[in-house]
Amino acid sequence: MASKKVLKELVNLREVLQRHNRLYHVMDNPEVSDAEYDELFSRLLEIEKRYPELVTASSPSRRVGAERLKAFKSIQHRIPMLSLEKCTQAGELLDWQTRASNHLGDSRKQSERVIHYTCEPKIDGVAVSLVYLKGTLVSAATRGDGRTGEGILENVRTIKSIPLVLEGDNIPKELEVRGEIYMPVQGFHSFNERAADSGQKLLINPRNGAAGSLRQLDPKVTAQRPLTMYCYSAGYYSDDWQPSSHWQVLQVFSSWGLRVNNETSLVEGVDACITYIDALLQRRDALAYEIDGVVIKVDDLDLQNKLGELTRTPRWAIAYKYPSQEATTILKSVDFQVGRTGAITPVARLEPVFVGGVTVSNATLHNMDEIKRLGLKEGDRVLLRRAGDVIPKIVKVVKPADDSEISSVEIRLPEFCPACGTAIVVARDEAIARCPAGLYCSAQRKEAFRHFASRPAMDIDGLGDKIVELLIEHELVEKLSDLYALRAEQIAALDRMGEKSANNIVKALQESKSTTLARFLYALGIREVGEATAANLAVHFGDIDAIKLADPDSLMQVEDVGEVVAQNIVRYFSNAQAWEDIVALRAAGVHWPIVEPASRQDTVLPLQDQTWVLTGTLQEMPRTQAKAALQKLGAKVAGSVSAKTTCVVAGEKSGSKLAKAQELGIRVIDEPALMELLGSHGESE
Ligand code: IVH
Repeated sequence: MASKKVLKELVNLREVLQRHNRLYHVMDNPEVSDAEYDELFSRLLEIEKRYPELVTASSPSRRVGAERLKAFKSIQHRIPMLSLEKCTQAGELLDWQTRASNHLGDSRKQSERVIHYTCEPKIDGVAVSLVYLKGTLVSAATRGDGRTGEGILENVRTIKSIPLVLEGDNIPKELEVRGEIYMPVQGFHSFNERAADSGQKLLINPRNGAAGSLRQLDPKVTAQRPLTMYCYSAGYYSDDWQPSSHWQVLQVFSSWGLRVNNETSLVEGVDACITYIDALLQRRDALAYEIDGVVIKVDDLDLQNKLGELTRTPRWAIAYKYPSQEATTILKSVDFQVGRTGAITPVARLEPVFVGGVTVSNATLHNMDEIKRLGLKEGDRVLLRRAGDVIPKIVKVVKPADDSEISSVEIRLPEFCPACGTAIVVARDEAIARCPAGLYCSAQRKEAFRHFASRPAMDIDGLGDKIVELLIEHELVEKLSDLYALRAEQIAALDRMGEKSANNIVKALQESKSTTLARFLYALGIREVGEATAANLAVHFGDIDAIKLADPDSLMQVEDVGEVVAQNIVRYFSNAQAWEDIVALRAAGVHWPIVEPASRQDTVLPLQDQTWVLTGTLQEMPRTQAKAALQKLGAKVAGSVSAKTTCVVAGEKSGSKLAKAQELGIRVIDEPALMELLGSHGESE
C-alpha cells in the first residue's frame, strides 16, 4: 500500500506534468527544460512501477501507448458529424449568405444585417470527436460515415497536445469536442526522410500520414508519429454550459487546455471573409500544416440554430476550397538534365495539369533510385503533388501504362552525357549519376556561371540565364575570370541585347568585384559548400590562401564541415586550373576585406564556440548584417537548426526552424533581445 505521502506526490506529479505538457504542446511556451521534465516523468514512472494499482488511464505515463488492440470499436456519434457545402468562388459565398438571410426571413435591408463569421483554416487531416466526462477524456472516434465512427481512444491518448484531463473553470459535465488531428508538414517530411533511409514506404501526404497513424492497432506505433490536433467546435454538451457564440466556444476551449488554431478570425460580413481567404492563400505554403481551404461559420449560436441543417450539411457553415495540391496526369517522357556539379537528374515531362494553383508540365525525379522506388514507366498515370515545397513531385503511379492502351516504356539512364557526350559515371556509393567532364561540359559550365552570378553569390545584376547561355555559346567566356574581361560591345552584339543593358551588365560586373570572402567562396560552387558553410569557412580562416593550404583535419574544425565536404574543398583547391582562375579573378580586381581569422584569435570572444541560427524576417537590420555581427562576436551562424544549435533568433514569420528549435528545446530569442545583445557588445550599428 502506498503511503499518504506517496499518494500526494503522485497526484501532484501528474498535475505538474500535465501543466508542463500543456505549456509545451498546446501553448508553445515551455517553462522547464526537457531534462527537468524528463526527471519529473521518471519519478512518476518509478512510483507507478512500484504501485501498479495506482496507474490510471489518464496518467501522463499512458502517453506511450497501451497494449495492441484486436480491432477498433464502433462508436455512435450522439450528434451526427456533418460535412460542409463547398464553394470555390467569392460569388458563391455571397449566394450562400443571401440564402442564409432569406432562410432567417430577415426583412431588414441587406446593408443593415451584418452577420459575424468566424474564418478558420480548413486543416487537411482527420476529423475526430472526443468525449470528456467531468473533464476526463473517455472516448475518441473518427468521423466514419458521420453517424458511426471507429473508437481510437488508445491512439488519441498518445497525442501529447490532446489533454487527457481538462483544466480550468466551469468545465461541463459532458462535453464533446470536435476537431482535426493532423500531421505537421515538418513532421511529415522527417517521417518520410527516415522511411526513405530505412527503405520503407513513404507517406503520400500529411493527411494520409495522419489517417494511417490513427488507424494503427498498436498505439505504441501511433505514439511515434508526429500528430497534433486543432479543436474547432463543440458537438454535444450538457446544459451546465451555455455558450452564445462559436468564437466564445473557441476561447473557452483554449482556457481548458484544448488546442485552438490562432489563425482563426472573427469578421463582419462576407467581404471580410473574402479578404481573409485571399490573405490566407498567400501564406498557405508558409503554414506549419496543410490546408485545403477556409471554413466559414456563422458565429452566433442562436443564428446557427435558426439556420439549422440540410440532410448532410449545415446552413450555417461553408467551406471555401483552395486549388488542390494534388492531381493525376500522364508521364509522357523522362529527360536527363546535367546540373552544376555534373549530377544527372531525371526530369519528368508531363501532360500539363493544374495543381496547387499553377499549370505544371515538369517534375523532378531526383535520381534513378526514385524511379525504381516508384516503379515508374513512361506512359503511366501518376499522382502529382505540388505543396509548400513548390517543386512538383510525383508521389506514386496511379495506373500503370500496362493497364491501359498506351504502351509503356522502361526508363533507362543514358550512357553518355546529353550535353557533352562524355560517358556517364555512377559511383558505387552514390545514388547519383554524373558527367565527369566538369567545366568542359557545356551544361555544367552554364550552371557554374549562373551560380557565380546569382544573388547570394557575386550578385551580378542582369547576368541572367539567357545571357549566360549566349556568352557560352558564342565562346565569349570559358573560365569565370573571363567575365571580367567582357566589353560592353561584345555583350551588345548578342541576340536581343541592347546597348543599355550591355552597359548595365558591365557596370554590375564592376560593382560585384567588391565582395566578401564568404560570397566569393560560395560563388566558386564547390560541391556541397552552401552559403552557411562558406560563411563559416571565411570566419574561421580569414582569407582564401589559408583555405587552400588547409588539410582535411583543419577544415573539419569548421562548423558544418564533415569529411565529405572537407574532401570536396581539398579537391577543388588542388585543381590547378581552378586555382589559376581564382588568381585571375583577384588580378581582375575581385577583392574582399580580410578578417582576422577566428582560429588565430587569442582572446575568447563573447559567443565563442556557439552556433546561432537566424530565421524569419528582421526589422532592424538585414539578416546578412545580423549574421556578420554575430560572427564578429565569435558565433558560428548555421543555416539549419540541430542539436548543436546554441540559440535561434526568430524574426517575424518564423516557420519550420522555430518549430524545430522548440521541438529540440533550444533557446529562442526575438529580435529586440538580439538587438540588446548586440548593443551590449557594441555591435548594433
Ligand atoms: S467544421 C458542420 N472546421 O472539413 C461542421 N471542419 O467537410 C463541420 N475541417 O470533416 C466541420 N478544418 O474534417 C470544420 N476548422 C474546421 C475544419 C474542418 C478542417 C474538415 C473536417 C470536416 C471537413 C468538412
